[in-house]
Amino acid sequence: MTHFRDRFSELETLATQGVVIADLFKIEPGRMDNFLMHEGPLRADFSKQAISQQGKDALINLARDRRLGDWRSRFFAGEKINISEDRAVLHPALRGVGGSEGVQKQVTEMRTHLRRFARKIRRDKTCKSVVHIGIGGSDLGPRLVADALAASTTCEYDLRFAENVDGASINDALDGLEPESTLVVVVSKSFTTQETRMNANAARDWLRKDLGEKAANNFIAVSANREGAIEFGIAEDQIFDFWDWVGGRYSVWSAVGLSLQIAFGPDAFDEFLAGAAAMDTHFRDAPFESNIPVMMALAGVWNRNILGYTSLAIIPYSRRLRKLPAFLQQLEMESNGKRMDRDGTATDLTCPVIWGDEGTNGQHAFFQWLHQGTPGAPVDFVAVLEDHEKRPDHHAALLANCFAQSEALMLGKPEHKVREELEARGHNVDFISRIAPQKTFPGNRPSTTITLDELSPSALGHLIALYEHKVFVQGVIWNVNSFDQWGVELGKVLAKTILKDFGGEVSDHDPSTLLLIEMVKQEY
Ligand code: F6P
Repeated sequence: MTHFRDRFSELETLATQGVVIADLFKIEPGRMDNFLMHEGPLRADFSKQAISQQGKDALINLARDRRLGDWRSRFFAGEKINISEDRAVLHPALRGVGGSEGVQKQVTEMRTHLRRFARKIRRDKTCKSVVHIGIGGSDLGPRLVADALAASTTCEYDLRFAENVDGASINDALDGLEPESTLVVVVSKSFTTQETRMNANAARDWLRKDLGEKAANNFIAVSANREGAIEFGIAEDQIFDFWDWVGGRYSVWSAVGLSLQIAFGPDAFDEFLAGAAAMDTHFRDAPFESNIPVMMALAGVWNRNILGYTSLAIIPYSRRLRKLPAFLQQLEMESNGKRMDRDGTATDLTCPVIWGDEGTNGQHAFFQWLHQGTPGAPVDFVAVLEDHEKRPDHHAALLANCFAQSEALMLGKPEHKVREELEARGHNVDFISRIAPQKTFPGNRPSTTITLDELSPSALGHLIALYEHKVFVQGVIWNVNSFDQWGVELGKVLAKTILKDFGGEVSDHDPSTLLLIEMVKQEY
């Protein structure tokens, strides 16, 4: 068997032969068949990646060398692949795919419990607003999904979110609401998160001020730490559990999505789960050659490890998917932003920086850099074909812009064409020599275009599960544990010390931090 590092050098050799994306369409007649893949309402077009058919074959061999098939089986079987925390990783089980019978039973019971609870709230009609408190994985997924579901499903509640410890977050979330008709849902896997506990305290005070002891009825928790939630003062029968085998950033499918079930109805949420389940079975069963998460992960490995790109831009051409870049920042960077592999050996060239914004807005901000800056970045374009806003002219323009950008990134504009244009306008040779290079677009910049037939709950489920599995595959290739996040701990500990320092004797710090603390002490 070839060692995977040898595969990298094989891939590097292929890359040094120079790949011109636009030419690949001419020399590879079956390119569209081999690089366009679909599952249900989702299509992924990888043909504008700088990967030849030979490159694709070599990348698939890399995945085989890394034993991706075995890892995938272990993942779906519920083996404890999160070794540093000694936990299984079973978010697909929340959608009904994988895990033991016991796990599936737990999930089914919880789904029934959640559905009943959501239906009851919706029937009662006393609740008008839902305030969802949580941060990171307990916030980003529900926010993204809330925005996106609004395309197809009526939100029957005033659904608000409070995540940041900045007082503006909870102030804005509670502003103008009536405590009596507001349900506060506190979501925290650990129930130890500072931001969430402070916001939950503030919301509870706000409820109690008006409702007194009855406030407890409007206060609900979702947590994998039942004891922590009870100790915080939440009534036992108001706590919804999830399990340690659900990572925070993979948890929107669990009770973490309760606010969504209430606001949009359990049927829409079930459809969302079913969409993800379809992507799970596709990932589990499709051959690597036509497996969308596998191809997406391998294209990312090629761009990161072989072509040396340091970031990946995510550009949803859909206002209702505008939270996708932020959601994927956590999903990808918290999962694979690692410097040590599973065996404790230093590794580099793992997860690129994930960034982006909605199109077309980004075109008027950072697309200049994407087209002409160095080194540029690969782009994932995400577009929805159906016009759910019932504004056909706007939608056509939105899609035209999306498709134009990927074409422009690939084709560029050669200098000789720019020179011809400048000559035709009568400019002199000196001016043309200076300006033509500046107006030239190098092109050959890679992108993937993902289209959804419609922004239905099912299509959204497909999309999010696709990225989850992509992250899993890259973790296997890079041999990192995608399911822990030790890198977030140090700052949390120091923040606690500094918070204490504000109110008392200052502990030992470097001069810069001391000065900052002193400025705050003077302020108060
Ligand atoms: O600090 C990072 C993190 O632990 C994330 O992994 C997690 O999604 C977020 O904080 C919130 O954690 P919790 O759900 O336990 O409050």
